[in-house]
Amino acid sequence: MPEFDLAIRGGTVVTASDTVRADVGVRGGRIVAVAEGIADAARVIDASGLLVLPGGIDSHVHIAQDSGPGIVMADDFASATRAAAAGGNTCVMPFALQPRGASLRGAVDAYRARAEGQCHVDVAIHMIISDPTEAVLGQELPALVADGYTSFKVFMTYDDLVLNDRQLLDVFHVARRQGARVMVHAEGYDAIRYLSERLERAGETRPYGHALSRPEIVEREAAHRAISHAELIDLPIVIVHVSGREATEQIAWAQGRGLKIRAETCPQYLTLTAEDMKGLGQDDPMAGSKYVCSPPTRDVESQEAVWSGIRRGIFDVVSSDHCPFRYDDPQGKLNPRGKTSFRWIPNGIPGIETRLPVFFSEGVSKGRISLNQFAALSATNHAKLYGLYPRKGSIAPGFDADLTLWDPNRRETIRQANLHHGSDYTPWEGFEVTGWPVMTIAGGQVIAEDGRVLSEPGRGRVLDRAVDPAERREA
Ligand code: URP
Ligand code: ZN
Ligand code: ZN
Ligand code: ZN
Repeated sequence: MPEFDLAIRGGTVVTASDTVRADVGVRGGRIVAVAEGIADAARVIDASGLLVLPGGIDSHVHIAQDSGPGIVMADDFASATRAAAAGGNTCVMPFALQPRGASLRGAVDAYRARAEGQCHVDVAIHMIISDPTEAVLGQELPALVADGYTSFKVFMTYDDLVLNDRQLLDVFHVARRQGARVMVHAEGYDAIRYLSERLERAGETRPYGHALSRPEIVEREAAHRAISHAELIDLPIVIVHVSGREATEQIAWAQGRGLKIRAETCPQYLTLTAEDMKGLGQDDPMAGSKYVCSPPTRDVESQEAVWSGIRRGIFDVVSSDHCPFRYDDPQGKLNPRGKTSFRWIPNGIPGIETRLPVFFSEGVSKGRISLNQFAALSATNHAKLYGLYPRKGSIAPGFDADLTLWDPNRRETIRQANLHHGSDYTPWEGFEVTGWPVMTIAGGQVIAEDGRVLSEPGRGRVLDRAVDPAERREA
C-alpha cells in the first residue's frame, strides 16, 4: 500500500503566509504532509512550473435563489458548482432567502434540499433575513445558528428585503448573542427610491439609469449607518460588495477607530465601470443591462481606490457576488418590465468561474498584490470569516485536500463559449488574463482539468459550521 493516495510534486505551495517549494501528500481526502520528496503515492501529479494554491472559496454567490415574479436565476446547484470547479474553486457559499411572511427555518430547509446531491464542490449556506419577527429572532435564528448556519446577510435596500434601522439593530443584537456573522448590503433605500423616481419622470429609463439611481453617496451613507449600528451593538460585521472610494473610506475610518468592520469587494468593482451600462457600440438599447448589478460599477478612479484598500489590508475577501441571469430571455435581463425601466432589470452578474483568473491577473500578474495576498483574499480569509477554518482555506496537515494548480504564465482570453455557468453571457467577454487555473482538486480528487469538469453532481457536500464560542456574547 502506498503511503499517500495522492502526491502533488514539484510545485510552489502558496498560502496566506508562505511561498515554498514543497510536495503535498494527501490521504483520506485530507492533506497529511507538506514536505520535500513525497513520492510513495497511488497517484502522482507533476506540478512543476505551477503554483499550488488553496482551492478558491467564494463566500458570496447566489444560486437558484427566488428572484421575483417571472424571473429565474440562470444557475441551479449543479451548473453553478460545475462552473465554480472549472474556475478553480472548491467551496462556495450561497444564500437561503427568507421571503417576507415565511419562516426562516422553512426557507433554509427547502434551500438545503435543493443543494443536496447536486453539488460538484462543497457548499456552506448563509441565510438572508428579510422578516425579523419575534419568532425569527427569538427562536428560529438561535436554533439555526446552533444547527450550523452561522452567518446571514441583511439588506438596507430592495423593496422586498430592506430592513429599517430598528430591525437592523434588533438583528445585530441577536447576532451578537449567538456569535453569528452578519453580512450587510449597504445601499440606502430611500435615497435610491427618490433618485429612481426622479430619473423615471425625466424619461431616463435605460439601463444606465441604474448607475445614476445608486451613486456612491448612497452606498457611503448606508455603510456609515451600518458601521454606527455595529458600533452601538459592538458587533463585527462584514460590509459586502464594496464598489468604490466612498464606502472604502468609511470602512478605513471605522477600522482606524478600532471597530471590527470587515469588508468584501468583487472583481467587477476592480475591472468594470458604469460606462458598460451604456451598451456603447451595440445596436441593442438593452445591452447595458448585462452589467446591471448592485451596487453598480463605478469608474477607473474608484477602481484604484478599491485596489488601494486591498493593498492596505482594508479588505478581507474578494468574492464574485455571482448572481446569474440570462440576457436573451424574458425571464432574465430582457423581462418585459425590465424593458420599460432600469428599475425592473434583475440585479446581478455572473462571475463564479471568472473571479479567480480576473483577480489574479489584475492583482498578481500586474504587480498590485502578492501571491500570499491572493491566497488570503481568495480563500483563507473566507474560511476564517465564516467558520470553515482550519478545515478549509490553507495548505497544511489536517486541512481538506482542496487545491488549485495554477499556471501563473498562461495567457487566456475569457469567452462565454468556454464557460460552464448557466448564464448566456459573461461581462468579461474578450477580457485578457495572465494566470489560469489548470487543475482543481477537491477532497483529494481531481474535479476539473483544463476546462473539463470531471466530477459528478453530489460529490460536494453541504457543510455545517460552528460558531467560535468566544464570539457569543451577551448583549
Ligand atoms: O446585484 C446584485 N449584487 N445582486 C445580487 C444580490 C446582492 O445584493 O448581492
Ligand atoms: Zn447585496
Ligand atoms: Zn450578492
Ligand atoms: Zn441581550
